[in-house]
Parts: sequence; C-alpha cells; structure tokens
Amino acid sequence: MNAGTLRPLRATLSRRRTVLSPARLRADPWRELARLHALPGDVARARAGRTQLAYLKGPGPIEDLLVRRADRLIKVNTITTPRLRRERFSSLGRLLSSDDRTEHLPARKALMPRFSSAASASGLAEVVAVLVAGVVDTLARAGTSDVAELTGPFAVEVIARTVFSDIEFDAQAANSDIADVLAYERLFQPGNVASTPIAERAVGRLMATFLGIAEADSPEASVPAIVKRVAADLDLETAVAARNILVVYAAGIETTAPALTFALAHLAHDHELQEWLHEECREVLGDSPPGAADIDRLPRARAVFAEALRLYPPSWYIARAAAEDVEVGGTPLRAGEIGLICQYHLHRDERFFRRPLEFRPARFLEDEIPRRTYLPFGAGRRQCLGEKLAWAEGTLLVSACSQALELSLDGELPQPQPFASIQPDRAVVVRARRRTA
Ligand code: HEM
Repeated sequence: MNAGTLRPLRATLSRRRTVLSPARLRADPWRELARLHALPGDVARARAGRTQLAYLKGPGPIEDLLVRRADRLIKVNTITTPRLRRERFSSLGRLLSSDDRTEHLPARKALMPRFSSAASASGLAEVVAVLVAGVVDTLARAGTSDVAELTGPFAVEVIARTVFSDIEFDAQAANSDIADVLAYERLFQPGNVASTPIAERAVGRLMATFLGIAEADSPEASVPAIVKRVAADLDLETAVAARNILVVYAAGIETTAPALTFALAHLAHDHELQEWLHEECREVLGDSPPGAADIDRLPRARAVFAEALRLYPPSWYIARAAAEDVEVGGTPLRAGEIGLICQYHLHRDERFFRRPLEFRPARFLEDEIPRRTYLPFGAGRRQCLGEKLAWAEGTLLVSACSQALELSLDGELPQPQPFASIQPDRAVVVRARRRTA
C-alpha cells in the first residue's frame, strides 16, 4: 500500500473511532468502556488522549489477540502509550514480566511444572485443603466475621506454604504492602501506579523483602529458587530475580482473595444455594471434609467459584500493544496501538451468557458457553500459571463452608469496584453456625 492510499484509509479509520475521556477512564473505567461495549460488532475502535485503541468483545478477535497473533503483540498493564518502546511497555521489566521470548519463555517453562504437573498440583491442593479447614473453623468459632479478613490471609498462606515452600519471610506484611501499591493502580495512567508517598514506601519495603528472599538459600522446588536459576542462566542480576519472585507472589493473592470474598458473599446471601451445595457434599463427601482428591468430584462447588469469577473477574482487563502492524479480528492495529479486552463487560454480555446479571452457578453445568468469552485466567502464552491452584482454593473453600456451616450475610451484597483487581465496595460481614447434621 503506498502513502497515497494510506492517507484516506487513516482518515476513514479515525473518523470511526469513538473518543473516550482519559480522565473518565481513570475515574470510572467500566462506565467509559461500556460505551464501546454497546457498539455493534466484535471490535470497536476508539481514541483516548493520544492512545489509539481496538476494543475487542467477540471470540474471533480475542483469539487473535491472545493466541493467533500473540507473537506480534506485547503485554502491557496500562493502555497509555507514550511511544512504541519495547522496554517502556513491559511494565515490570524482565524475565517473567518481559515480552522478550528469550526471557519470558524459559521463566514460564521452568515455573510451570511447579504449578501444574499432576504430582505438584495434588501436593499443593493437599496444603490448600488443610488451610481451608482452618478457615471453616475460624468462621465457626468467631460467629461473625469480616470475610476479607479471612480470605486475604488465607490466600497469602496458600502461596507462602505451597509454591514458596514455607521459606521464612513476613508474608502477611508483604501482602499489605502490595495492597498499598495496587490501591493506586489505574488503567489509564503512565506506569499504571501513581507515585504517592504511601506507594513509594511500600515499594521500598517490598523490594528489600524480596531482595532478601532472592539472596537467601531456598528449597530447590520453591518459586524463589526456580526464578533464581533462570535468572542466573540468563545472566540477569539478583534484583531482576527479586522483582519476578514478587510478581508471582502478588499475582496469586490480590486475585484469589477478592474472588473468594465474592463467592462467600453470594453463598451467605442465598440459603437455597447453600442447600444445593450441601447436597453435593453429602453425596460426594459424606462426613469427610473435602480433600485434594475431591476437587474434580465437586462440580457444583466449582461452578459457584466459576460464577464468582464471571461476575467479578479479579483480573478485569487484558491489554496488549502491537509491536508491529498486525490485524486483529479483521481490524488493522498499527504498531503502538492497543488491543483491549474487558472481562468485566465480556462476562456480562447477554450474547454469551443467558440472564447475565444473575448469580446462577448452574449455567456452568447447563448452558453452553462459547469459547473465548469466559476469560478469568486469560488465554494463550500468558495464561495464568496459578489457575489450578486458584481452582483448588475456590472449590475446596466453597465446598467445605457449605458442608460444615450455615451462613448468613449481614446487609447487602457487595458491589465490585475496578481497582488493579476487582474489590468489594464494602465489608462482607457473615454470620456462621456449625451445621448439626
Ligand atoms: C482467581 C485467581 C486468579 C486469577 C483470576 C488470575 C488471573 C490471571 C490472568 C488473567 C493472567 C493473564 C494476564 C494477561 O494475559 O495479561 C494471569 C497471569 C498470571 N498469574 Fe494468575 N490469576 C489468579 C491466581 C493466580 C495464582 C494463585 C497464581 C500463583 C502464584 C498466579 C500466577 C500468575 C502468573 C505468574 C501469571 C503470569 C503468567 C505469564 O505471564 O506467563 N495467578 N493471572
């Protein structure tokens, strides 16, 4: 195509772009993105400030972005694009967070067996089952609990005691620092995280903690040891290893914890749902608490967690920048333009989900859900590494609570809020009583 034909094409394309407000995207991203989601077709072109966007809301374009054309796209955490510079796009830098295949792929390959091999996954699930029993016990003994105060520490313990192999560090303090940093994350903000004194101090403490972890000896099978080995093979500094250990740690907590909170809120809110699950527990488990071997035998409990991930997908958007000109869903993305998927809207789209705003876990047992329209864990070569672990946490916790407890919710269901991960807008206070039979 020569410059003469390109100019009119550019003009036509830019005329068809919806103009979004960067300020509104920062303040209320779901509302601003809803304008794109409401447009006809599977791709909506938009402009926000200097950023050119293709907003993808159908299976074909999504498959292109995450799978078929993934090699020509770069993972980004923000949709602000100053200029196409590979190193500026990569939000956290190198190794697992990088888009350079010589760095990302070895890190991913080395970590994968720790999360997903059958032997490792079942070992991890056994630890999860023990921790789940502890949560049930705490709920029963406390009588009334703020659920987030249980799910947060539970998610931390799971990561610390499984893939971090019980190495010594103050995991709960690190988690509260991560929460301080992520509270300032915004979709449409250079670098994603606002530089505030609170966030800066938290980052300083986190780097000191994770540098300490990267410098210390750790068990061979632990995430820190695996990441260190890959970093050493690639001749990368310890600080790079430390940042990547932190990435794995944070990825497993700020996602799982809110998903569990929403799942338990719905459970406590809906007595019939509890009975439906309790029936499954009676049939499958009898009187024994759920263990690692039961995870695949509890489809109702899994469906409840799946439904929480549908309505409240913790990772609520995925963004990629075109590294070169590329076509996505029949739409050209020029180098530097952004392809954006918003799972929050996608999962609430009535083209793919019947009565989408209802919390109806049975849809996962009865309805056909089109491929690439349900994406809580992403897809393709950046798909979540911790997915199996997260399913173990969700299925076992939902099941164990329904087996042993009668729950009721104080007040209204929480509403989701778009922070770095989706968070409930209020405390979820639940009353729990041990079942007698
Ligand atoms: C409900 C819980 C979770 C959700 C919803 C979730 C969601 C996601 C999503 C959507 C991605 C891909 C992002 C993209 O393509 O840009 C991702 C990546 C990742 N997740 Fe999870 N995640 C969860 C739990 C976990 C757990 C428990 C871990 C374990 C520590 C974990 C570790 C990771 C890692 C390391 C990546 C990066 C993979 C790569 O880039 O190759 N996640 N997660």
